[in-house]
Amino acid sequence: MTATILVTGGAGYIGSHTCVELLQKDYDVIVLDNLSNSSPEALRRVEKITGKSVTFVEGDVRDRNILRELFGRYTFDSVIHFAGLKAVGESCQIPLDYYDNNVSGTVILAQEMAAHGVFNLVFSSSATVYGDPASLPIREDFPLSATNPYGRSKLIIEEILGDLYKSDNRWNVALLRYFNPAGAHKSGLIGEDPNDIPNNLMPYISQVAIGLREKLSIFGSDYPTEDGTGVRDYIHVVDLAKGHACAIEKLRTGCGLKAWNLGVGNGHSVLQMVAAFEKASEKPVPYQLVERRPGDIAACWADPALAKQDLNWVAEKGLTEIMADAWRWQSTNPKGYRD
Ligand code: NAD
Ligand code: UD1
Repeated sequence: MTATILVTGGAGYIGSHTCVELLQKDYDVIVLDNLSNSSPEALRRVEKITGKSVTFVEGDVRDRNILRELFGRYTFDSVIHFAGLKAVGESCQIPLDYYDNNVSGTVILAQEMAAHGVFNLVFSSSATVYGDPASLPIREDFPLSATNPYGRSKLIIEEILGDLYKSDNRWNVALLRYFNPAGAHKSGLIGEDPNDIPNNLMPYISQVAIGLREKLSIFGSDYPTEDGTGVRDYIHVVDLAKGHACAIEKLRTGCGLKAWNLGVGNGHSVLQMVAAFEKASEKPVPYQLVERRPGDIAACWADPALAKQDLNWVAEKGLTEIMADAWRWQSTNPKGYRD
């Protein structure tokens, strides 16, 4: 049976890769995106990869009129909610924009879903909700905290959705806590395309290797890790996208509300990431060691056992594939979708 999925923020980095997986599983996909951090070209390329069409609606998830129109026109099986702002530093400058976009956007979306009898929701949460974990690997039942407005917006949304589920158990909600998404589709047609100077490690390394930036600043070399640099759980974006397709299937069984970590289950340091990228790209990645970035933690990686048990999902791709795919995307699209 084909089912129709509404994907908010579907033109973005993780959203576009998820659209590919959904279309390949024969779902019909409707994307709602205001293009504040993406290009419609991403969706044209999704269509090229899959040979299937995506219905794209340009608009804001906070716009009730658009939502009513969409829910009136289509019968959605589920909604995957990626739409949101995600830059930690920016969230400290303009916190109200973050709460408005992320929190209000989710509240309005959930209201319109309920009003139209759609109760299956996959929400993009983040490992940032674990704050600075007391031990590793991180399990879903670890204490939650936030250190910046972006992280707090994710935590608040998780709590709001928890309250919603308690009030009405028709809801099925997957809180997917992503670790560090990286890499690109193997076709080289879609990938991460930051608008501005990248905040995150992987797009920054890629832009240094292609010559757009002079050198990488490594934030901190005195962490209590193997080589002193920060350690993270880098997960291939295609594995992450597949996790969403598994979550949709789970929601359809009537699972209630539950959080799942989507991570590989092991960590790599910044220096290991640089070395792996240099190997894949055969390009040097010059770097300097600088002060720690405020708010960063030393190390973070997932215990992904629950997702394996409940969603039948495991990350299959390792660092070599992440780097090869990231480089293919960057080297064939040096200026992202603007090329
Ligand atoms: P992205 O910026 O590439 O994608 C987000 C998309 O949402 C963009 O296409 C943007 O134009 C759209 N959007 C933003 N606000 C909107 C609104 N009000 N209405 C409609 N569309 C809107 O980011 P991404 O990396 O693909 O992240 C997707 C989701 O996953 C976000 O919610 C993000 O917070 C979360 N997340 C991302 C990471 C990461 O490292 N990339 C990690 C953890 C969680
Ligand atoms: C960051 C956010 C997190 C968010 C995630 C995905 C912070 C404090 N955390 O996670 O809330 O969910 O992105 O958007 O911003 N690094 C460098 N040089 C760089 C960039 C990064 O050395 O130019 C290091 C960092 O110190 C860290 C690692 O690389 O050790 C990964 O950083 P990044 O990609 O920004 O992700 P996180 O900090 O894990």
